Amino acid sequence: MRILAILLCAAAAVPLQAGAEEPRWTERERRILESMTLDTGMPPPASPSNDYADSPEAAALGKKLFFDPRPSADGSISCASCHEPAKYFTDGKARSVGTGEAMRNAPTIVGTAHNRWFYWDGRRDSLWAQALIPFEAADEMGSSRVAVVRLIHGDAAYRDAYEKAFGEPIDDLVLRELPGHAGPFGAADARDAWAKLSHSQQTAINRVYANIGKAIAAYERTLSPPLTPFDRYVTALADEQSDGQLTGDEIAGARLFMDAERSQCLQCHSGPFLTNGEFHNIGTGNFSGENLDFGRAIGLRAVLMDEFNCLGPYSDAEPYECVELMYLNKDSHLPLRGAFKVPTLRGLRHTAPYFHDGRFATLREVLEYYNEPPSMDEVGPHELRPMGFDEAELEQLEKFLLSLSH
Ligand code: HEC
Ligand code: HEC
Repeated sequence: MRILAILLCAAAAVPLQAGAEEPRWTERERRILESMTLDTGMPPPASPSNDYADSPEAAALGKKLFFDPRPSADGSISCASCHEPAKYFTDGKARSVGTGEAMRNAPTIVGTAHNRWFYWDGRRDSLWAQALIPFEAADEMGSSRVAVVRLIHGDAAYRDAYEKAFGEPIDDLVLRELPGHAGPFGAADARDAWAKLSHSQQTAINRVYANIGKAIAAYERTLSPPLTPFDRYVTALADEQSDGQLTGDEIAGARLFMDAERSQCLQCHSGPFLTNGEFHNIGTGNFSGENLDFGRAIGLRAVLMDEFNCLGPYSDAEPYECVELMYLNKDSHLPLRGAFKVPTLRGLRHTAPYFHDGRFATLREVLEYYNEPPSMDEVGPHELRPMGFDEAELEQLEKFLLSLSH
């Protein structure tokens, strides 16, 4: 009976390619496959610096803000302009365009709550600290924190949602006598106005502003990745059911991906999100000309200086809870100049173009890059070695990568 069920199942689902061998995985390989699988019920790790991380009221406010273009300088750009739900929360552009042209590609934020560091260079250590940047970034929304706080305070629905989420209203005094725009980043007039505020005025605004970030983070934590054919395949394997969830090519691609002799992929792209969450140099830094980008070398310094980091005055964490920041390896042996955060490989079907600057339009181009990485004479030290795949293998790897998308 069971054999019949397996046969039927294999025939009904996507069958193995003609001629392909029935895959047999060793115990070790199965354990690796399982480590790359997503469990639907997997909540993001705790966020000790954000007491509201799992508050539904905060998430409701955060969601409203995420889709609202009013906080931008010209009222036309929201977070969702560059993180579109239909594109797996990316924008389909090589480099994003908001109130100006950004220098980097918009990464997905689905599952990003599982990260330790945010941005390609990891210059923020929490989702809420990250969410405070775009409002004031000249190339993203071009506004200022006082204008954003003013918007929330001036809109009855927002004011109500804020009070529900944080248990206290925004004190009128916070905004009294403040100019329309003021913030430490962005336009010169906003910066000047900010510099003229007293320390206590700045702190009062920052407290509300930090809460706005915490609300957006609470919403982002609800964006969990959907299961994919790959996940279903591994679950079926574990249950001793049919292997017929993936094609022979996809399975061959998974083998290449996991084969440490051949591909190195797992060294950096491991775990359920196919990232080790760290920074690696694969020769993609840009050290001259336009669009200079030193990656982690700058991000490392920036996160330590951020007043909204886990150890800062607006964090809800006890210092001992800021483990990542405290034990940040400032003298890593890896070449940080030109290192970028290893991105997730989930959702790639929806997130082209690829790499921090969107330099590759297709997955095939990415794989060709890995196959023949640039020489170190040309681009400086990096961690890749040529992988030597033939045409058929590149095709298999690509198909495997796509099986990690819904
Ligand atoms: C103009 C387009 C644009 C807008 C608007 C924008 N983003 Fe982004 N977002 C980007 C780009 C580009 C990056 C990568 C920048 C970098 O690494 O330096 C990014 C990175 C991120 C990340 C980091 C993800 C990770 O895993 O590292 C998060 C989270 C995020 N944005 C959330 C938001 C939120 C919340 C808003 C609104 C408050 C927002 N973004 C507005 C383009 C945009
Ligand atoms: C030494 C670490 C390392 C190894 C090994 C490695 N990667 Fe990457 N991968 C990265 C980093 C870092 C980036 C981002 C680079 C950038 O944006 O400039 C990246 C980016 C990618 C992207 C683009 C994703 C996106 O959203 O932009 C894909 C696809 C990818 N890698 C697949 C692979 C595959 C397949 C292998 C094995 C053949 C592999 N990687 C091996 C570190 C690594």
